Order: sequence, then structure tokens, then C-alpha cells
Amino acid sequence: MRVRYLLPQPEIHTAAVVLAAGKGSRLKSPIPKVAHIVAGRPMLHWVLDALAALNLDKIVVVVGHEGDQVRDLVESAQVDNTVCVTQVEQLGTGHAMRCALGLTNGEHPDNDPSLLADAERILLVYGDGPTLSPHTLVELVEGGQGNEATVLTTMLDDPTGYGRIIRNTSGMVTEIVEQRDTNETQASIREINTGIYCFEREPLVKALGQLTTDNSQGEEYITDVVGILAPRVGAVVVAPDEVMGINDQIQLAESAAVLRTRIIRAYQENGVAIIDPATTYIEHGVSIEPGAVIEPGCHLRGTTRIGAARIGPNADLTDTTVEDGATITYSVVTGATIGADATVGPFAHLRPGTVLAPKAKAGGFVETKNATIGEGSKVPHLSYIGDASIGAGSNIGAGTITCNYNGYKKFRTTVGEGTFIGSDSMLIAPVTIGNGAYVGAGSAVATDVPDGALYIERAQPVVKDGWASKFHARYAKPDTDQ
Ligand code: UD1
Ligand code: CA
Repeated sequence: MRVRYLLPQPEIHTAAVVLAAGKGSRLKSPIPKVAHIVAGRPMLHWVLDALAALNLDKIVVVVGHEGDQVRDLVESAQVDNTVCVTQVEQLGTGHAMRCALGLTNGEHPDNDPSLLADAERILLVYGDGPTLSPHTLVELVEGGQGNEATVLTTMLDDPTGYGRIIRNTSGMVTEIVEQRDTNETQASIREINTGIYCFEREPLVKALGQLTTDNSQGEEYITDVVGILAPRVGAVVVAPDEVMGINDQIQLAESAAVLRTRIIRAYQENGVAIIDPATTYIEHGVSIEPGAVIEPGCHLRGTTRIGAARIGPNADLTDTTVEDGATITYSVVTGATIGADATVGPFAHLRPGTVLAPKAKAGGFVETKNATIGEGSKVPHLSYIGDASIGAGSNIGAGTITCNYNGYKKFRTTVGEGTFIGSDSMLIAPVTIGNGAYVGAGSAVATDVPDGALYIERAQPVVKDGWASKFHARYAKPDTDQ
């Protein structure tokens, strides 16, 4: 569920434009910039989610480079009132804004020029800022009341590369100067343009009509709108962590760290013990109940759900449900359900379709796949259990293997309740072992075993009295005849 944030003067029709048409070449990656995964979900989804919290009338995403992929991303974000427009050529941030407003002539036949016809207040954000949070956008709108435009800014120790904020003596913004156009004094200004703005519609449209490509890049800059509207332009300063713009792999990892810390904080505030946040990786989409303990070195991914269980140290869980009281140590678990008070590991590999019923155990060096282990049943050591169901209260001896594959097809193994499978047994599927049955250690079981029966399959033992002693006597002598 999304927490909702109320913008000031909620009666004003407010929309947002998200720029996501650029190539992001500095990431040196084959996928579109905004599709990069940050803390478990695409960058663009973080941005759209922040906007979704604001009850906007409309969110317009400007796509261009790899437009189809970005459109798919927008769709999978499932945020209401979100529409894409195509910017065929990336002619600058100002031009992208004109596309969103339908102010370019016949830019792309599918663009609907009236998308923002009702918007009186327009937020502009970039698709490459995954750490932006809704309360920052509320601050921007609040701080900008009465201005024709308001820029979100931040103070950087090293402002290199960003547009600098020039203010007049009353603190209003008069100009944004791009790095390449700065003089020495301007270059020393530490307050920079984050690229996030709040505009009043009428002045914005008027200013967009006056943009030129008269700059070193030959692009239409949205920053020039600020110069045109000055000095009726304000600025709201926020912390750098809120407004990270991702251009390269270094910044991508930095933004992931910021989001990761936020996710962990939220769990800590909700009563989850996270022993070492620095080595804990919890993706967006995971949920953890109060009372859970997350030991160092854990990765919790996908749709993992954790009750009041103890996870780790060093567990890697994906799309897995863990019930109260379960423990998982030094293990990799994917697509599994771990019942209450069940134990996993150390060094287990539980693959998709594994279900451990309450109090069941999958111990050291056990691999399972598509397998149900019944209540209180134990697979304590060195086993492979695949395509199988094991009833309650059974014990599966060390080294037991379900031979589920004949090179072409997979077959199932069914083991009843209260069975005992001796160590080093091969259960050759398809095969059924009845309730209360007993399989002698070292058996290869290729036929069904009835309820309560013993199955044992062993070669005749050979015992030769004195053989070993003679053997040692012969070979343990100093080596003479080699
Ligand atoms: C921009 C700002 C700069 C600010 C910086 C903050 C301008 C001219 N400069 O510079 O003042 O400090 O952001 O990160 O706005 N895009 C389109 N269509 C285009 C061009 C860009 O959709 O035609 C999108 C890009 O995909 C990107 C965003 O707009 O998400 C910003 O463009 P980019 O070229 O990265 O601007 P910067 O040089 O970073
Ligand atoms: Ca940028």
C-alpha cells in the first residue's frame, strides 16, 4: 500500500512530466538507463512510485531512446494516470518538455497533444533520480507557492558538471548556468540545479515558446525557462541524497546504497533486528515482520516474506516465504516456503517449489527442488530431493538421492508418513514408498514399497578371515622390488 502525501492547495490541478528519453551513454550498458535495477527494481519505477504518492491528475513520461522498452517499464509500474509521449530526437530538456505539452508540431503521430491541457501546476522530474521521495516534492511545491517556477537545488562540495544556481540579493533565482558556460565566479558556486522543478502552466508555456538552441550543445534547455521567467523563480534546497542523478555505474551503486539504507531503517523502526546493516541487502518488494532477526551477510530479494524467523548469517533468499520460528543459516533458497519452526542449513540449496512443512529440516549440503517435506520430517545431511513428496515424521538418511531424471523426463518420488530411509539410498523415480516403510541403508529402490514393509537391496557380503593382515604384511615392507 502506498502512503499518500498531500500537496499544498490540492484543488490546483497538478501533473508531472518525467524525462526518460536520453541514452545514458555514460553507463556503458546495453539496456536503457532508467531500466537499470536499483535495490530490486528499475530506476524508473522508484521515480513513478514517488509520484504515485502525490495523487497527480496525470503523469507524462517522455520516452525516446529504446522507447518501447521504456514504455513497457512504465506499464509494469502500474501507476494510475500515467501516459507516455515520444520524443523522436533528443533535442534537449526544454524540447522534451514541449513534447509533453504538445507544443511541438507533429512530433510523433501517437502523441496526444492535449494530455496536459488541464494541468495548472506541472512538476518536472528526471527518470534517472531513483532516490527522490514524495515528501521532497511536497517541500518543493510548498516552498514555491507564489512563484512562477521553483527549482529544487542542493549544495555539493564538488559541483562540477551541474548547472549552477545564480540568485539575486533577495534570494530569487535569476539564471541557471550550465557547467560549460560558467565563468570562474559562477563555477565556484556550490548550489546546483537538480533538474527538478515546479512550474505554473501559463508562464511555462510562454517561456517554452521563447527557447532557442543558441548554446554550445545546440539544444533547447529547460534551464533557459528559468532565465526567461526570472526573477519570479524561487529555489528550494534539499539534501544531496534526495536528488541523486544517475549518469554512471558509480552513481548507480551509490544510489542503491542510499535506498538500501532507507529500506533497512524502515524495518528497524518497525521492530526487525538487523544485526549488521552494512552487510545486509534487502530489496524493494520484500516484507519482514517485527520480531525477525536478520544476521549479517543476508540478501533478501524479490517477493520474499519473512515472519518472526531468524535468517542468516549468510543466507540468500529469493521469492521465499519464511514462517515464524524458522531458522536459515548459510543457505541459498529460491522460490520456497519454509514452515514455522523449520530449520534450513547450514549449506543447503533449496530451489523453486520446495515446501518445508512446520518443524521440518533440510540440513547440511542438502539440495531440494519441487519437493514437499512433511511436518517434522528430516533430511539432515548430503541429500538431493527433487520432484518428491515426503510425508510427516519421516527420516531421510544421509546421502539419499531421488533419481528423478532418466535423461529425457522427470519423474516423481512419493514417500509416506513415518518412513525411515536408510543412508545412501537411491530412490529411482517413479517410485512410491508406503507409510511406515523402512528402506535399508545402501538400497537402490526401483519398485514400490508397501506400507509397513522393509525394502533392502544389497549384494551378498564377502568376509575373508585374515585377508587384510596378510595384505598389509606384504605391502607395508620397505619397497624393494619396484
Ligand atoms: C541537466 C541540467 C543541469 C542539471 C542536471 C542535473 C539542462 C540543460 N541541464 O543537465 O542544469 O544540473 O541536469 O542532473 O537541463 N532528456 C530527454 N530528452 C532530451 C534531453 C534529455 O528526455 O532531449 C532527459 C534525459 O534522459 C535525462 C534528463 O533529461 O533523464 C537530463 O538530461 P541530461 O542530458 O542528462 O542533462 P544534464 O546534462 O545532466
Ligand atoms: Ca544527467
